[in-house]
Order: sequence, then structure tokens, then C-alpha cells
Amino acid sequence: MARIVGGLGISHTPSMGLAFDAGMKGEWEPAWKPWFDGTRPVKEWLADLAPDHIVCVYNDHLNHFTFEAYPTFAIGVADAFPQADEGWGPRPAGGPPFPPVPGDTDFAWALTEHLIRTESFDLTVCQELALDHGVYSWLPYIADAPWPAPMTPIAVNMIRHPIPTAQRLRDLGAAIRRAVENLESDARVLVIATGGMSHQISGTRFGIANEDLDRYFLANLKDNMPALVDLPQTEWMRLGGTEAAELGIWFAMRAALSDRIDEIYRYQVFPKITGCGVIAFQEPS
Ligand SMILES: [Fe+2]
Repeated sequence: MARIVGGLGISHTPSMGLAFDAGMKGEWEPAWKPWFDGTRPVKEWLADLAPDHIVCVYNDHLNHFTFEAYPTFAIGVADAFPQADEGWGPRPAGGPPFPPVPGDTDFAWALTEHLIRTESFDLTVCQELALDHGVYSWLPYIADAPWPAPMTPIAVNMIRHPIPTAQRLRDLGAAIRRAVENLESDARVLVIATGGMSHQISGTRFGIANEDLDRYFLANLKDNMPALVDLPQTEWMRLGGTEAAELGIWFAMRAALSDRIDEIYRYQVFPKITGCGVIAFQEPS
């Protein structure tokens, strides 16, 4: 039986990725260097954990999907997931592009089968899927290319309302746990969820953020998720900006884990515009 060995919640932003590329050339923006330093323990932990597979719940930002058809939930079933074109060309600029994130179609099909047929999550199946900064911005902070394990990405609509509820995202995580445990392999699986923390990038409230809200979220995710889930999404948006709703994606990671987890690491910083944070949980062996 496959099993989930840990969970990682991590924020993403476009500038996080571009800052990494500049940093690798010795040109760190001062605002971003603390995030790099703060993610070093996660990179060490991930290397030690050495999962066989990663299930990553993330959101696209109109870089692969378009308003012509924006699925509420979609799953990538492919051998590889290349970078989406976000308008600045493949990263890192000036160097060989990052290799595509590898996939495992056998794993992904089995997960898809269970999630659709048993759990009634009607995922859009993507046999071609390009990943934007929702994945590629933080990935090089926590692992070196070539990437350490195949990934099954699950995309959540956070762009066009109505977005899925916090309760639905929590339920997705619980379903992922059951789906993994239903697999006939002995894979050790890491579940990652990624969404921006507090921020707003549109309208008259552009630029608002709330570091206290981000701190409250991280402090309560392990032992008090029901209180976070019960806070209406409109309240998350009012307190932390409209894009703070992406924090709901992290519920899928937490709900995929048991209540016996240890919190391994937590870090939070505010480089610019968007709150950034990371939290790592591990199941007992
Ligand atoms: Fe985002």
C-alpha cells in the first residue's frame, strides 16, 4: 500500500522565481534573500525524506488554462510537465531552461480513477499540462534540477469565481489520502499544496496584505484547521486581499495528513506585495 509520508505548504509568486534566477547569478534582491535562506531547511528535509512521488495541489494563473474553459479541478496525467509561457520565456533566462517536471502516468491514472470513480471528484484530465509559477517559482528553492521525484499536479481554479469552497478543498485532501492508500504500490508520497498567502493584485485595494493573518494561518494549520476552514472565504479576502483565498489550497495538503504529524519547520517573510510562507509536516515512520 502506498502511503503519504509528509506534507508541505508553500507560497508562490512570479517574482519569487525571477528572484531565484537572479540570485543564482549572484544578483540577489535584498528583499528576496531571506526567503532563499528560509527555505534551506526545507531543501535539506526534502532530500532526507526522499519521497517516491509528489502530489501537488496548485493553481494556474491563466498561463495554461484560459477563460474559454477553466476547470474547477484538473489533474495532470503525463510523462512530463514543462514550464508554461508566462511572457518572459523559459526560466532561467540566459541559461539552459529548467527540465520539465517528470510525471508518472501509471501513478496518475490510478489516482485519477479513484478520485473520479470512488470519491466523485470530477477532475478534468490533462494529458498535456504546462505548469506556471504556481509550481516553478518555489520548486528550485527546495530541490535541484533534475527534480527529485515524479509529480502528479492537481490544478484548482482560483481565478474565475465561483472558486471551490474551503470545505471542498479540505475534502479533496482527504480524498487524495484515500486514493494514495488505495494504490497497489509501496510508494512513499509527499503532498504539496501551494497558494499565495495574503495579497491583492487588482482593484483599488491593490497591494494590501496582512502578515498577522499569514502568521495566524500557519500557527493553526496543524491542530486547528476547522477554525480556518470555517472562516468564510470572503473574510480571508477582506482581511488578506482577494488572492489570500489561495490559502484554501493548503487545506488539501493538511487534510491529506493524519493527526499524528509532526511539524518539522515553519517560516514566514514578506519580500514584497505577497506574503510568503512555508510549513513542513511529517508522518511518523
Ligand atoms: Fe497564485
